[in-house]
Amino acid sequence: MSIFYDEKNRLFRLDTSKTSYVIGIYQENYLLNFYYGKKISDMHFENFCKRNPSASFSLANPVIGENGFTPDTAPIEYGCNGAADFRISALAVRNYNGDNVTDIRYLSHRIFKGKKSIPQMPTTYANSDDEAETLEIDAIDSVTGALVTLSYTVFENHPVMTKSVKIKNTSDKTMFVERAFSGCYDFNSMDFDMLTLWGRHDKERNLCRRPLAHGVQGIESKRGVSGHSQNPFVAFAKAGATEDYGEVYAFNLVYSGNFSALAECDHNCSTRFIMGINPSDFEWTLAPNEEFYTPEVVSVYTPDGIGEMSRIFHRFYNNNLVRGKYKTEKRPLLINSWEAAYFDFDKEKLVAFAHEAKKLGVEMLVMDDGWFGKRNDDTNSLGDWFVNEEKLIGGLKPLIDGVNAEGLKFGIWYEPEMISPDSELFRAHPDWHVHVDNRTPMLGRHQYVLDVSREDVRENIWNQMYKVLSENKIDYVKWDFNRNISDAGSALLPPERKKEFFHRFILGTYDLMNRLVTTFPDILFEGCSGGGGRFDPAMLSFSPQIWTSDNTDPIQRLYIQFGTSMCYPASTQGAHVSACERTGYETKGNVAMWGTFGYELDPIKLKEEDKEIIKQQIADYHKYYWLIRKGDLYRIISPFDDSYYAAWQIVAEDKQSFLFTFVCMRRCSHRTCFIKFKGLDPNKMYKCSLDGESYSGEFLMNVGMNFTEMANRDGKSFTVYFE
Ligand code: DGJ
Repeated sequence: MSIFYDEKNRLFRLDTSKTSYVIGIYQENYLLNFYYGKKISDMHFENFCKRNPSASFSLANPVIGENGFTPDTAPIEYGCNGAADFRISALAVRNYNGDNVTDIRYLSHRIFKGKKSIPQMPTTYANSDDEAETLEIDAIDSVTGALVTLSYTVFENHPVMTKSVKIKNTSDKTMFVERAFSGCYDFNSMDFDMLTLWGRHDKERNLCRRPLAHGVQGIESKRGVSGHSQNPFVAFAKAGATEDYGEVYAFNLVYSGNFSALAECDHNCSTRFIMGINPSDFEWTLAPNEEFYTPEVVSVYTPDGIGEMSRIFHRFYNNNLVRGKYKTEKRPLLINSWEAAYFDFDKEKLVAFAHEAKKLGVEMLVMDDGWFGKRNDDTNSLGDWFVNEEKLIGGLKPLIDGVNAEGLKFGIWYEPEMISPDSELFRAHPDWHVHVDNRTPMLGRHQYVLDVSREDVRENIWNQMYKVLSENKIDYVKWDFNRNISDAGSALLPPERKKEFFHRFILGTYDLMNRLVTTFPDILFEGCSGGGGRFDPAMLSFSPQIWTSDNTDPIQRLYIQFGTSMCYPASTQGAHVSACERTGYETKGNVAMWGTFGYELDPIKLKEEDKEIIKQQIADYHKYYWLIRKGDLYRIISPFDDSYYAAWQIVAEDKQSFLFTFVCMRRCSHRTCFIKFKGLDPNKMYKCSLDGESYSGEFLMNVGMNFTEMANRDGKSFTVYFE
């Protein structure tokens, strides 16, 4: 059993194979978060609430008395607003009479095998009921009648816990949820560095590490999507923790909309962390008996450093998040038309790409933006999802037949949640875009956002997509999203529900995506948002891969891929070799090989010598496919730490083989370059592809190898395979 309830002491302990999480029911039924960390087997939490109660005019519950317990400093499991817990709160519910004091207390609980899904929202899942166990605690705010169900799932084989929350209005009056975070965590120290992933278009997911300080600090998105700027990922690494050593707690929100992740270090030097839907521009009206569900937050704990944190996420997401056929089946190696042709293509050009790409070993041609409406640039036609017959004469069929005849599968591009002011759809439905009354909405890439919170709008888009996808042999869909959401409003929402818009929009997106993956289970679906502007676990629940960035420069890509790998596995990182000129094709291939691998160039323009390199790359891609998809990533030299070198290693699950990749970003004349490998079996012998010699894992991890001679040319790279 992984979830225990100690009835005498009123304690819950939620165990994975390596971690424990303890919740206590205190006097007056306060729910307290006593422990999260390395697995423990006994519980002595009698003293746990004694925390300098009078540190800052802290207040007492009159029933409990002034005996050392105060909501101000207690490790409240799900902090609420206004009842003497003055820290950042996870929940605030406003009553029919305008009061927004909220105070939930334990009512009952259930423990069961398996894991429930959350209505309308993507989640991680258990492959069988034996793999996970769930605790649901009901807690009630007796004044508002808000019945709060705190859900926790722990996984048998992964040191992972998920949390989510349901709020039900059990009163006979309407209530308003002002904020409802997915998880609240308490640490009785602030001796942590906070790790986050910041970025922008073309420079996604850079690692930021800063020590926690007194006060509130954190990250958020108000862009309507998870966004380029901050990823919904936060880790707390014990000060001094490295890739290989030290305690790390990490959190990733399974949500693609506005989020907030805040840490508050209080006057007792304790830390509260909350993560969930951003309460800015949010409020949810609950009529009697209605329910509101938060998205889920995934948390990982490890005492073994930041690298192990990443590997835990990677294994878990590969097994318990990504779904569908391509979770386990080999994905076709693709070439995408975007950087090769932009909007300038026709059937002949694309079939010629396919013809040439086939000779290299490519398996699928993806026709990117520009095939629909009258689209020849980015000023029009989003929403008109019918073929631009001036460009593709005779429609899609002759093109797809032509590509298939060359032996390639065929993929297509969509941007379903957008509408161009210059489109037939906009002219027919001038109120279907996201907007508020009396304001002209901002434009982004000449486009508006389509109001997919509306069912009628979704129905229209779905019918258009269904027609194309069901009438044609389409093996892949790239789903793009190329602007942020401003002027947030929906023509259908009444005034009191206007602040529900952002969340309703995301639920609408999920509804459309869910229809796509369930109606067309054989289609490989790749997420995208101006590169990697919507790279989050919720999207991965629909699309097993996401285009990581529009930046295909292999040196800059190193930063993007290292950052993305903090929590997202190689199998999910869309990575292509393009024609950009910074390095030769070896390095472009070695860097793209980290991810899903593919091409984004005009194959006709390739030089003969580059074609030979590409053919070898494709052979390597097949050779290392499963090693990279299923293996464990070890970041050896991170470009965030080193201005010259980047290196990483992927070790097979059974430790029988591994692939090492090294990139010299800039030549460095004053350094030797010894690499000590990681994650090997010390007792196994590994044969090296460089010299044919066999080395023990023990030798490779402790002595390592000297690559000084090979590491000395700008933009050069190499791989070494050991088996
Ligand atoms: C942004 C994407 O990131 C690109 O790969 C490409 O699909 C363009 N949109 C097309 O408009």
